[in-house]
Amino acid sequence: MCGEWNTLVEEPMAARKTGKSPARARKRGHAAGPTSILRNVGGAESARWTTGINEFDFVLGGGVVPGSMVLVGGEPGIGKSTLLLQVAARLQARPLRSLYVSGEESALQVKLRSDRLTDGAGDVELLTETSLETIIATAAAGRYDVMFVDSIQTVYTEELEGAPGSVGQVRECAARLMRFAKDSGTAVLVVGHVTKSGGIAGPKTLEHIVDTVLYFEGEGTAEHRVLRATKNRFGSVDEIGVFRMSGEGLVAVGNPSELFLGDRSRDTSGSAVTALMEGSRPLLVEVQGLAAKSGYGTPQRVATGYDSKRLALLLAVLERRAGLSFSQMDVFLNIAGGIRMQEPAGDLAVATALASSVFDRALPTDAMFIGEVGLGGEIRPVAQVERRLAEGAKLGITRAYVATRGVPQRPVRGVTVRGTATVQELFETVFA
Ligand code: TYD
Ligand code: MG
Repeated sequence: MCGEWNTLVEEPMAARKTGKSPARARKRGHAAGPTSILRNVGGAESARWTTGINEFDFVLGGGVVPGSMVLVGGEPGIGKSTLLLQVAARLQARPLRSLYVSGEESALQVKLRSDRLTDGAGDVELLTETSLETIIATAAAGRYDVMFVDSIQTVYTEELEGAPGSVGQVRECAARLMRFAKDSGTAVLVVGHVTKSGGIAGPKTLEHIVDTVLYFEGEGTAEHRVLRATKNRFGSVDEIGVFRMSGEGLVAVGNPSELFLGDRSRDTSGSAVTALMEGSRPLLVEVQGLAAKSGYGTPQRVATGYDSKRLALLLAVLERRAGLSFSQMDVFLNIAGGIRMQEPAGDLAVATALASSVFDRALPTDAMFIGEVGLGGEIRPVAQVERRLAEGAKLGITRAYVATRGVPQRPVRGVTVRGTATVQELFETVFA
């Protein structure tokens, strides 16, 4: 499709790749390269640079790895520049020499934002530039430890014809920055914009090139932001860090569950709590469902933070297996706090929140629901249920509904766990 990323193929790149094929290489008479026995390879993983912004360090796997390249993707306005300037300030203070390259904002704009939001960024060196050649030359001459490039879409190389931001330019510039990082040992952190519709536009092409991909996400209106690792050569993926936006910039949130449950709507129908595993950590979230009699035309189905196909499927299951009718209802589903619920473990909370709204019966605020829902309405066990229950217990959950086969062997302190076979059976219990 036109106007979308990843739809163009750059011919010159393809040509260069075939040039490297073994058969061609032999014909051209390349010399054989040196090999080494894996066991005898020297060196150790270099120490990481911690920023002291705990959630940022955690998502990276323990801090910034020297010579690595990190892509920070996210929608415009989500807070990428603010985050990276805060990181630059911390690294500069260690002290590590940090260069912040801005292709989007003037030096004054960056300074004004820094005065407002990023304490201590005053010593960071700034370069407003979009020419890749100049950027790399500057970074090399200055022997910086860390370079920030904001954003990859504004940078261009003279060697290619395309405009800045085109797939070819973005990819080539990223590849050259990656090479620079590896050759120089400078850590390179790059901002990449993502469009709302395209999911991961532009940066998708870059994911293969860079070492680590972090996404910065959140609802525009909500005050928190989630940083998520989707690729990490130096740590595990799917780890998240939660930040709160403030007048003094981003503040790392130590206990995200508390934040997400904090402003839970109490005693209203349509609200159910579940525990998701985000990387290695459990996270409590509130699912909000609203089923309301629709006006004319096709009833609406609107899901925020949840897959709309999955919602359609659960609605069908609830109709067929639990006798609820949504045919004349608009259905809205929202995962509170701007969290994107990708795990099937949240199905049961979604189903229960919707049923709660239909019956207009509030669920107990100290209950949570953990389980996948199958097409037959059966509740299926999910992994790591103990850890989810323990996180619930910390935040005042005293009863949990899980699959019959999902009841943990050992009791979890403070939580009464009840195993249930089907959604229908569950509804008979909780809405009795
Ligand atoms: P910005 O970092 O410029 O977003 P991006 O680089 O992803 O486009 O942030 C957008 C706006 O939000 C900017 O005007 C600053 C403001 N902001 C705050 O006031 N407090 C905060 O904690 C953050 C992260 C941003
Ligand atoms: Mg920005």
